[in-house]
Amino acid sequence: MKVLVIGNGAREHALCRSLSLDPAVTALHCAPGNAGIAEVAELHQVDALDGTAVSALARQVQADLVVVGPEAPLVAGVADAVREAGIPVFGPGGDAAQIEGSKAFAKDVMAGAGVPTARSYVCTNPDEVEEALDAFGAPYVVKDDGLAAGKGVVVTSDLDVARAHANSCERVVIEEFLDGPEVSLFAITDGETVVPLQPAQDFKRALDGDEGPNTGGMGAYSPLPWADPKLVQEVLDTVLQPTVDEMRRRGTPFSGLLYAGLAITSRGVRVIEFNARFGDPETQVVLARLKTPLAGVLLAAATGDLADLPPLRWSDDAAVTVVVASHNYPGTPRTGDPITGLDEVAAEDAPHAYVLHAGTKKDGDAIVSAGGRVLSVTATGKDLTQARDRAYKAVARIRLDGSQHRTDIAAKAAREADA
Ligand code: AMP
Ligand code: GLY
Repeated sequence: MKVLVIGNGAREHALCRSLSLDPAVTALHCAPGNAGIAEVAELHQVDALDGTAVSALARQVQADLVVVGPEAPLVAGVADAVREAGIPVFGPGGDAAQIEGSKAFAKDVMAGAGVPTARSYVCTNPDEVEEALDAFGAPYVVKDDGLAAGKGVVVTSDLDVARAHANSCERVVIEEFLDGPEVSLFAITDGETVVPLQPAQDFKRALDGDEGPNTGGMGAYSPLPWADPKLVQEVLDTVLQPTVDEMRRRGTPFSGLLYAGLAITSRGVRVIEFNARFGDPETQVVLARLKTPLAGVLLAAATGDLADLPPLRWSDDAAVTVVVASHNYPGTPRTGDPITGLDEVAAEDAPHAYVLHAGTKKDGDAIVSAGGRVLSVTATGKDLTQARDRAYKAVARIRLDGSQHRTDIAAKAAREADA
């Protein structure tokens, strides 16, 4: 099978890594990719938002499957264009991707499907904003309606901050605060059959102790030793399957990866958000544990054959990933700084620890930073403590001027599991 992956983050590196280890994959292409992906796939230049260009590239490399990683091309209809060109594609069409592209649309789908979520108001002017903030009280949850790479959400007890963010958005969703730990649960679907993956937890805030601004995600781990073993089945029955059924009923069938961002509250599971693609950095730890070769799973979703897929096989190992980010992320990041120590990780820590690249590029012989999240240092182990130790040992070998990372990824879960 010849596969083309669209995207350039650590999620796409994780996808490409798994695909490169799948004996069914005879050729692997990625566009635009990054310096790490270049080691496992042939890179191509493409405007990832241009469906015609992506379809032309897919034809040129004779792809049997196109995997669209990020949300922006999906919302722009790139998967529609590839599908229309007659090439199987993993990823929803533009209409269905609105489940991520518009928070208001997602709320409407959830209402139709009877899926539990935070009560919310959609506001388009300061009076409505005032009313909604007043109705829910602190802590305030204020979400830009459109795509914002995880950075459009403000959760604050400061009314002035909440108001300022709300009034800076054209359309804003203001909602009830959900207490309790968060879980990311991904499901592969062909629009009918839904196959859940293993749950993971992401760390959204920039700083240790869940302080600082929201980011795209600073680290993740899987499995979740503290979670109810029935959680996956419960979310499949009450969230994932009803949502996929509702999307089909609406005439916007959803195939690809449905990402449920969940809060495990004192009153039960609630959906915080849906995404229309694999999560980043959770994918790095989920795929580290998936034993079933990946290409066949993605192809079955693309061709409507998931019902025939044998159950997925998982490793009992734990996986942890730590994101190394540029100076000033999630603000405008500083880029162009050389990254060293990658060879040491490959020599000393592989195969249990490895570095997945996000914002990196080649500059002559050097690898330099080229984005906010730069690397996703990933490790497996017999439990979270071992996976964590291995991941942080590898992080310590990497040098990137001004870089930042959290030191507490999976720390609490590892401690509790050991107790
Ligand atoms: P979202 O982009 O909707 O996932 O929101 C980003 C982050 O904001 C989430 O991962 C949560 O940490 C936080 N958040 C979003 N909605 C809520 C809510 N209703 N209650 C508490 N925290 C929330
Ligand atoms: N890790 C959060 C996201 O992928 O949206």
